[in-house]
Amino acid sequence: MKLLSLLSLCAAGSAFVLPQQQQPLQGILHAADALAAVPELWSDDTPRLLELAPGDAVWMKEGDKLRLMREGKKFIDITDHRDLGATVHASAKQPVSFPSNITHSEIVKPIFKSLSADNIRKNLKQFTSFPNRYFRSDNGRQSSQWLQSLISDTIDSAGAKNVTVTPFKHTWPQSSLIARIPGKSNKTIVVGAHQDSVNMYLPFLSAPGADDDGSGTMTILEAFKALLTNKNITSGQAENTLEFHWYSAEEGGLLGSQAIFSAYEKAERDVKAMLQQDMTGYIKGTLDAGKKESVGVITDFVDTGLTEFIKKVIEEYCSIPYVETKCGYACSDHASASKAGYPSAFVIESAFEYSDHSIHTSGDTLDKLDFEHILEHARMTVGFAYELAMAKF
Ligand SMILES: *[C@@H]1O[C@H](CO)[C@@H](O)[C@H](O)[C@H]1NC(C)=O
Ligand SMILES: *[C@@H]1O[C@H](CO)[C@@H](O)[C@H](O)[C@H]1NC(C)=O
Ligand SMILES: *[C@@H]1O[C@H](CO)[C@@H](O)[C@H](O)[C@H]1NC(C)=O
Ligand SMILES: *[C@@H]1O[C@H](CO)[C@@H](O)[C@H](O)[C@H]1NC(C)=O
Repeated sequence: MKLLSLLSLCAAGSAFVLPQQQQPLQGILHAADALAAVPELWSDDTPRLLELAPGDAVWMKEGDKLRLMREGKKFIDITDHRDLGATVHASAKQPVSFPSNITHSEIVKPIFKSLSADNIRKNLKQFTSFPNRYFRSDNGRQSSQWLQSLISDTIDSAGAKNVTVTPFKHTWPQSSLIARIPGKSNKTIVVGAHQDSVNMYLPFLSAPGADDDGSGTMTILEAFKALLTNKNITSGQAENTLEFHWYSAEEGGLLGSQAIFSAYEKAERDVKAMLQQDMTGYIKGTLDAGKKESVGVITDFVDTGLTEFIKKVIEEYCSIPYVETKCGYACSDHASASKAGYPSAFVIESAFEYSDHSIHTSGDTLDKLDFEHILEHARMTVGFAYELAMAKF
């Protein structure tokens, strides 16, 4: 019944759009938009508590999330994690001092030889071939399983016996993934990206999510692969434990990362730093504006000390500079780490205003990305991970 009424509305939509013969894509998107506005067609009326600004939470419905996205509004769905950060334990309350200098350049730079733009492209091509990676769908479940196998193969190829990848299961079909490289202590450095994608017009439409955040997903996987070529890292000789996280349901309001950091908070896990990368491949906006290629260091809603440290990492390990930029509240999964009391930082592909505007649509495709730019993010990730894995906190 629902499907039938949907099909007839689709037909009605195209009948309405096509005779006008102008901007058919725009027309289709508007038709899809109109469909999405008919709540009984797909949406779920489950009440959800959405936080739009610090301390400003409003009860809405699951179906309102895509509407907010189309309006360009960010939100954290705090329904199930209203207590995140409420019991922050003593070690997380201590301010963390980050190294004042980069000290492992001679070891880190040779690791870059293991980074490959072609490999990133190959992995991302397959990852974007799922119709979408919507977290509540079977596509989302399958893409997560595929990613888990890819991470698992990476570990096996490196022969890294003590390195693991484990799904973190949720109440929805797509699991988050956590790869762990044990060090001498349980003090932990986290590198994150999100694996899900969504089409903001209707969740079952195509959403390749090449930039958002397939690019971040494959950036951190390539850095992970490269780090596993270093014997200090694989043999557990690092001072600290390294974890790589691929979050589910970022697009649902940071759901996967909140579940993980909530569990870490309750287990009193000692996370010293968390670096998020969400969109690492689009530079056309920057170049079209006549600006120099750079990476964007986010300066709002992040930890100041860690952000100062990441700037030093970029100066040492990247061949392009950084610009400081802001992206607002609830911008990506690092917000969940911050809420749990863990220092977090975020680096994006460019100044925020020049970042990719085709995200959350079927137009977020591979051909718009620059893989040499993604390599810069991968170098930064290797440098960040090695320097902090070896740091004495
Ligand atoms: C860090 O580097 C600066 C400039 O290179 C130097 O002056 C300073 O002594 C270094 N600090 C430490 C703790 O090594
Ligand atoms: C890390 O934590 C686990 C689980 O609590 C514990 O079994 C292990 O001994 C700890 N390792 C170190 C090096 O402290
Ligand atoms: C391991 O770390 C030590 C201490 O920093 C360093 O001297 C050594 O070169 C490193 N070995 C490798 C393979 O990175
Ligand atoms: C793995 O961990 C075990 C126990 O900590 C250690 O004895 C072993 O040397 C490690 N294996 C490798 C390959 O580093």
